[in-house]
Amino acid sequence: MNYYILTLFPEMILQGLHTSIIGRAVDKGLISIEAINIRDYSKDKHNHVDDAPYGGGAGMVMQPGPVCDSYEDLCQKMGKRPRVLYMTPQGKVFNQSVAKELAMEEELVFLCGHYEGIDERALELIVTDYLSIGDYVLTGGELPAMVMIDCISRLVPGVLNNDVSAEIESFHDNLLEYPQYTRPEIYEGRQVPEVLLSGHHKNIELWRRQQSIKRTLDRRPDLLKGANLSKKDEIYLESLIKE
Ligand code: ADE
Repeated sequence: MNYYILTLFPEMILQGLHTSIIGRAVDKGLISIEAINIRDYSKDKHNHVDDAPYGGGAGMVMQPGPVCDSYEDLCQKMGKRPRVLYMTPQGKVFNQSVAKELAMEEELVFLCGHYEGIDERALELIVTDYLSIGDYVLTGGELPAMVMIDCISRLVPGVLNNDVSAEIESFHDNLLEYPQYTRPEIYEGRQVPEVLLSGHHKNIELWRRQQSIKRTLDRRPDLLKGANLSKKDEIYLESLIKE
């Protein structure tokens, strides 16, 4: 997976994404991250990329020229026109299934706005997807782009050490993940659930499934409608609701 981020703050992206699992994936060549400075495409002698909004109002608007030119230059170099994801609170809310769909692409371009946004004509010309990370307003698109890149990258084969864990974790099947424990066996008087020490794999699997269902009912009951529950799961869920 190759990511290209069109931004006024490339150092923010590069610093944020070169640590831990994502940093290692870059080092292993499983993903690449290129931050492109929109300011490099300014034709203004002071390198300006923004101006006051027509019609008046507060703040500054990013001009269409540098935004479009940065993308067109990239397309020219690549010989193709990859999808452009514009980070905006007005977009579709990003979630695990959007991440899964985006992970199938070979290249993704993230467009990060700042100030009061980007001139609408640039968006009409190059943007393919409008995406938000939630119903709140941030100062720019860099953090949303980093959130999405982190989430998509862990779905790229080889990025996580074990490919099963990308599947089993929270939101797979619309159920939250079961609780996890490690040594010591007793901490502050609290014992690790007995079944996990038993070595009985079938019982452990059943316990984990039931914990996932219980946790989802407690914390995110809205997810249960989309969960893929077996007859046995349904019976367990019914018993929890009756309690
Ligand atoms: N830019 C500002 N706020 C945002 C949000 N919530 N999601 C995506 N991009 C944004």
